[in-house]
Formats: sequence, structure tokens, C-alpha cells
Amino acid sequence: MASCDLIFTGARVIDGSGSESRFIDVAIDRDRITALGDCRHLQADTIIDASGLTLAPGFIDCHTHDDLAVFKSPDIPFKISQGVTTVIAGNCGISLAPVAAVKELPPPFPLLGEAAEFCFPSVKIYRNALEKAPAAVNLALLVGHSSLRLDCMAERLDQNADQNALQQMQANLRLALEQGCIGLSTGLDYPPAQAASTEEVVQLAGVLREFTSALYVTHMRDEGDHVTEAVEETLGIGSRAKVPVIISHHKCAGSRNYGRSRETLAMIDRARAEHQPVSFDVYPYTASSTSLLPQFIRDAEAVLVAESMPHPECNGKMLDQICNNWDCTAEEACNRLYPAAAIYFQMDEDDLERIMTHPAAMIGSDGIASMQTPHPRLWGTFPRVLGRYVREKKLFELETAVHKMTGLTASRFGLRNRGSIAVGSFADLVLFDPEVITDRASFENPAQISDGIVSVWVNGKLSWHDKTSTGIRNGVFLTH
Ligand code: ZN
Ligand code: CU
Repeated sequence: MASCDLIFTGARVIDGSGSESRFIDVAIDRDRITALGDCRHLQADTIIDASGLTLAPGFIDCHTHDDLAVFKSPDIPFKISQGVTTVIAGNCGISLAPVAAVKELPPPFPLLGEAAEFCFPSVKIYRNALEKAPAAVNLALLVGHSSLRLDCMAERLDQNADQNALQQMQANLRLALEQGCIGLSTGLDYPPAQAASTEEVVQLAGVLREFTSALYVTHMRDEGDHVTEAVEETLGIGSRAKVPVIISHHKCAGSRNYGRSRETLAMIDRARAEHQPVSFDVYPYTASSTSLLPQFIRDAEAVLVAESMPHPECNGKMLDQICNNWDCTAEEACNRLYPAAAIYFQMDEDDLERIMTHPAAMIGSDGIASMQTPHPRLWGTFPRVLGRYVREKKLFELETAVHKMTGLTASRFGLRNRGSIAVGSFADLVLFDPEVITDRASFENPAQISDGIVSVWVNGKLSWHDKTSTGIRNGVFLTH
């Protein structure tokens, strides 16, 4: 009799492709799924009766800043407790590698870590370190444009790259891609990259074409009043560089711009109709979170100070209240609080739902693990989509939601044999109860384990069970 390590019986199986769930057995052996359907011919070491539960591919968090978190918290409970088995790091232009020693970190780099923690001058060194000390989840890395700038033109971040700097950045990007990165990310709305011209980005993104499946991922130049111009710039960069594009955490920020996702999605639809590969990620909240900077407060209805280095007594307070206490303008308060991170309430629920339901939308948390008071998306994103938006609001079917967290993401990011329950796929799996699944992380109490995630396997190993880490760290560094 043929054998395997583990068979699931009785589960409702969602395969990640978006197609309807089926009640079938799933067999895994070592790190792969080896059989589907009737598995009675197989001898298994363990049989799990999963009746009443749903088995899906482990979720892929396509928008993370977990570059350092995988070393600092290798059990990565805030992700694996949600059913996440793969994270894509290096987003928003800031990747921990490749950056040689830096003295000072301009915002938003401190979101990743402290200056001394930027100690990975090459992606190869980063990858080796992770392979020596694996985390509980798989990780794929994007090269940050701002990181390239920090490395090649630290003294001139307020300028467009000259020919020398551009060539050096192209060479560093090429090397990072050779060493296993899957694409380039930008954060054109942030100080280290604001001065970069569209042309600079096109020239860099052109390098991606030399690598199969490499993609351009962008936190656009503007997500508020000029969001349509920013989408236009993004589509232009993708078509001129001839590379697939992913718009990060798509939103229309600021009450003046509520409803404008109709315009941005129409632009994206037009590009897709002309066969330009464009998609985007989104998190299921109407508040964002990043460095506390004066440029961001004008688009927010309210600002919560998540953490301030010089004024920790202000952590968790509203910026308005701090201004009152200090009798100063919001701008002055920002300057006094800096370095600081904040949560910005600045989006419209209708936009959020319109963006999430779009067929090109993938789920990404954008959670930031380094914060004292993180945005609840760090712990709650995936269960929130499945609980609040699928079960309660019936925004889409469970199969569609899972697709946006697994199969769609794997295909857009070029992660082979991930995000699917199919023979030959890696055994990244989550077993959950769709009737129970609920995010418990809140703005007041963000570090909360969600309800309803029963067990999580990464590359065939049980890594999370019964709201506890098993201590197994079986994640690998993913390449194209
Ligand atoms: Zn961003
Ligand atoms: Cu981000």
C-alpha cells in the first residue's frame, strides 16, 4: 500500500483557484500535496477528520514589511495566527536588503528597523541568514527603490538620480534579482523617493524585463487629490518598461476623494482590456498607517499616534488631543513627536468594498510589526475579510475571498506551486471554521489572535495549532 504522512478527510476543500469548494480527501507527504479525492488506497501516518471545517491553501500576504520581523519574531504569530503561510516583503520602496551600513534612516525606513539593523549589503547575505535561521512562514522579497537610493545616493535623496547613480542602482537591482528577489517596489510618496522622476523609475523597471516574472510594485506618488495622475504614471511606467504592475494598498485618501475609486478602477479596467497586466492589493480597513509626517495629515479625518520615540506618553493618543494639550499646530506636534508612526482615518467604506470586490484585487495586510501600537491589520486582515466581508456582509463568496488570498496572488507574483490545493503543490495549508472566523484585533487592542483558525501547515509541517505556535519554523526563501 502506498503511504503518505497525512490525510485530511471530511473537509470542505477550497483549492484557491476561485472555483467551487468540494468535499474531497487531501493527502500530503513531506512538503507536498500528493493526492486528492478518494485517498482510501493510501496508508497515512496521521488522519485528520476535518468534518465541519474548511481546508484552503495557506494565505499569501502580498503586502508586508516583515523583512526584519522574520528574524526578530521568527514564529511570526501575528501572521501565522491568521492562516498566512507566505509573506512578500520589501514593499513600499523600503527593503532591508540590499543596504550597506547607513548612519541615518530617513522616514519611512524606521518602520522596518533601526539603522544598525540594516546590515544586509546584499540579498545573498539576507537570504543566507534567513536560510540559516528560518521563520515559520515563507518569504519572497522585493527590492526597494528607496533602499537602492539610500545605498547609492544617500547624500542626494532630494534629487533625481544622475546617470552614474542610475547605472549603479540598475547594477544593484540586477544583482538582487539574480540573487532571488522577485521584483522592484517603489514608495514614490515618501521623502527618499519623492524627487525621483518617472524616467528614473522607468529606467530601473526596465531591468526587470531581463528576468522572467519579475514585477513592478508601487506605493504610488499620490493616493489623495492626485490619485488618478498617480495611476496614470504607474500604468505608464508598466507599459514603457513592459513589466507587470501591482498597485499597493489601493485607496482614495481624504474625504474630498471619497468615491473616486470609480475613476481609478475604470482606468485600471481600460488598461486590462488592452492586455496590460495590472492588479493591486488592498487591506480591509478604512484607516491607513505609516510614519507620522505633516504631508499625510491633511488627508486624514483623524490621526492616532501609534508611537513616538521622544514622547512615548503620547502613544495611543489622538493628534488633536496632543495639539490641544501642547497648544500648538498639528504640524508642530508632528515635528515634536518625530520619529513617530501614526494611524490615519482617511478612507470611505464604499471605496474599500468596491476596490476589494474588483477581480484584480488581492488581499495584503501592510501590517508593521515594529510598532508599539500597530494598526489592527497586522493581526486581523485575513480573518476580517473572511468574517466581516464574506460571512457578515456577503460581499463575495468564500471561494472568491480565498482566491484573492492564494491562487490569484501566487499567479500574479509568480510563486510556483503555491496558493493552490493541487497535486504537486507545496503543502501550505490552513484549516479554519468559516462560521467562527473573526478578527479580534482592534485599534485599542491590536495584538489579538483571531478566532476560527484551527491549524496551519507550512511546507507540510504543523506550525500553528489551537491558537499557539508549535515552534516549527519551516518557511523557505521563495524565488521565481
Ligand atoms: Zn505603502
Ligand atoms: Cu506598505
